[in-house]
Amino acid sequence: MLKQVQHDEQKKMKAEEQLFKMTAKTMAGLEPILAKELMKLGAQKVEAHNRAVSFEGDKGFMYKANIQLRTALRILKPIHTFKAENEVQLYGKIFEMPWEDIFGLENTFAIDSTVNSELFNHSKFLSQKTKDAIADRFRDKFGKRPNVDLEKPDVKINVHVRGDDFTISLDSSGESLHKRGYREETGVAPINEVLAAGLVMLTDWTPPINFIDPMCGSGTIAIEAALIANNIPAGYFRNEFGFEKWKDFDADLFQVIMDSAIKKISDDDRTRIYASDINRQDLGKAEENIRNAKVEDTVKTFRSSIEDFTPPPGMGTVIINPPYGERMGENVNELYKSIGDVFKKKYAGYDCWMITSNMEAVKHIGLKPTRKITVFNGPLECRFLKFSIYEGTKKIHKLEGKEKKEPEA
Ligand SMILES: C[S@@+](CC[C@H](N)C(=O)[O-])C[C@H]1O[C@@H](n2cnc3c(N)ncnc32)[C@H](O)[C@@H]1O
Repeated sequence: MLKQVQHDEQKKMKAEEQLFKMTAKTMAGLEPILAKELMKLGAQKVEAHNRAVSFEGDKGFMYKANIQLRTALRILKPIHTFKAENEVQLYGKIFEMPWEDIFGLENTFAIDSTVNSELFNHSKFLSQKTKDAIADRFRDKFGKRPNVDLEKPDVKINVHVRGDDFTISLDSSGESLHKRGYREETGVAPINEVLAAGLVMLTDWTPPINFIDPMCGSGTIAIEAALIANNIPAGYFRNEFGFEKWKDFDADLFQVIMDSAIKKISDDDRTRIYASDINRQDLGKAEENIRNAKVEDTVKTFRSSIEDFTPPPGMGTVIINPPYGERMGENVNELYKSIGDVFKKKYAGYDCWMITSNMEAVKHIGLKPTRKITVFNGPLECRFLKFSIYEGTKKIHKLEGKEKKEPEA
């Protein structure tokens, strides 16, 4: 009995030794969703910060997080922290690190720096100094140095300084995780895949309830919803992750984790997701992307205006990402008014959500949002607005004498 307790205790200590801290980066407004995702996956010590969530896990968990997380842009693994007050100290600290244990001469590398310091104010300069110190260390040891590739490096190194506190991290994701691998075709203003997944998760939509994007463009929001419905990992279609180029990459462990994620794909045949758009070209792109993501059984497409599209009866969730009127001369007030009318007339029982940066145009919808969440679509500060449509919403609207004749579907 005592032996068993000791054995369990030792096992627990060993597992804890293998845990390390990581930081998943995300977009403003999605931090609570990412924290929830991490907790569900089994991360430890999950803490939400500004556009990031820190957590602990082991190597296998790092692979799993990269494969599964829908709302993370990248996952950084801090490998060293130190203090430096000037470039000479920084160079020395970086030079001391055993870079040759992390990657090889055959790999390309690049540095990305973020600065929040009065001592250092140029991120480019920090990246340059870090690159020099790493290259010099390799040259010192092997007479040669690995090449820099700013476009598509094998190994991405992140330097973060706050005051004189430096954190050096490896970017375990490589290319940003929003690059899922299914989207080749995009329309005029495609939404980032991480934001699209985050919006779907913010609505609390649960399959198999109906889901509709009646202004789907290249289909990103509908596809992310379908990946969720079928439990298809966000990273399933990616060709590679940053950690695959590290010297400690464990290909067998990665395969076990990928296989286990694949086994959980559910082939959901109950959920119906509807994606429609007025523009034939955009819809063609959506259809191509839907096929690439292998969700054509879940997502049904229609070429239709939002005004003409008739949703299936019952309950459901709608997300629309309409034009924001950002383009010169574009006036979207009429369009937003017509969206409001359609919600009231056709979507009783539905939760209708809209993301937009145009709060002036929102006034023309003629409905009061029941929730407002601030999110960013690229550089644009947006609101993600919820309009709950009940039978009564339509009646009240009729009483106000604003009802128009319903168009034929
Ligand atoms: C900002 S884009 C949507 C982008 C999309 N979320 C994506 O990821 O590609 C807005 C879309 O609304 C469509 N649209 C504009 N007016 C419409 C209308 N009255 N009915 C349906 N679609 C409309 C446009 O064709 C365009 O594809």
